[in-house]
Amino acid sequence: MKTQSKLLMVALALSGVLGLTACGQEEPAKPVAAANTPAQAPAPVAPVVAPVAAPEPAKVAAPAEVVKAEVMGEKVYATCVGCHGAAGEGGVGPKLQGQTVADLAQKLQVYKAGKEIGPMSSMMIPNATQLSDQDITLVSEYIATLK
Ligand code: HEC
Repeated sequence: MKTQSKLLMVALALSGVLGLTACGQEEPAKPVAAANTPAQAPAPVAPVVAPVAAPEPAKVAAPAEVVKAEVMGEKVYATCVGCHGAAGEGGVGPKLQGQTVADLAQKLQVYKAGKEIGPMSSMMIPNATQLSDQDITLVSEYIATLK
C-alpha cells in the first residue's frame, strides 16, 4: 500500500509538472499575441478574409442573362399567339406545346428558307422569314416552356 501511494504521489507530481509545463507553454503565447493584436494585427487579418470571398460574384451573372433570353423569346412569340395560342395550344396553326427546342427551331428554319412542311406552309413562311437565327433560338426556347 505504501509503495502504491508513493507511486501515486509521483504520478500526480509528474502530471502536475507536465500540466504546468503544458500550461506554461500555452498560456504565455496567448497573452503575447493578444497584447500585440490591438496595435499591429488588424491590418494583416483583413486581407486574409477578403480573397476567400472574392471568387463568388463571378457566378451570379448567369441567371440574369437566362431571364433576359426568356423575355426576348416571349416578345418574339407575341407575333405568333394569334395563330398558335398564348400557351402554344394551337388554333389556325398547329399545336406547338410539348415540342422540343430542336424540333421547333428546325421547322422554323425550313419555313425561313421558304420551303413547305404542310399544306398551309404559305401562312407560316412569311412569319418565319422575319425571324433572325437568334429569334428562332429564343422563341423556340420560349415555346418549349409553355404548358
Ligand atoms: C397567320 C397565322 C400564323 C402565324 C402568325 C404564325 N404561324 Fe406558325 N404556323 C401556322 C400554320 C398555318 C402552320 C402550319 C403550316 C404547314 O402546313 O406547314 C404553322 C406552323 C408552325 C410550326 C410548325 C409546327 C409543326 O408542328 O409542324 C412552327 C414551329 C410555327 N408555326 C411557329 C411559329 C412561330 C414561332 C410564329 C411566330 C414567330 C408563328 N408560327 C406564327 C400559322 C401561323
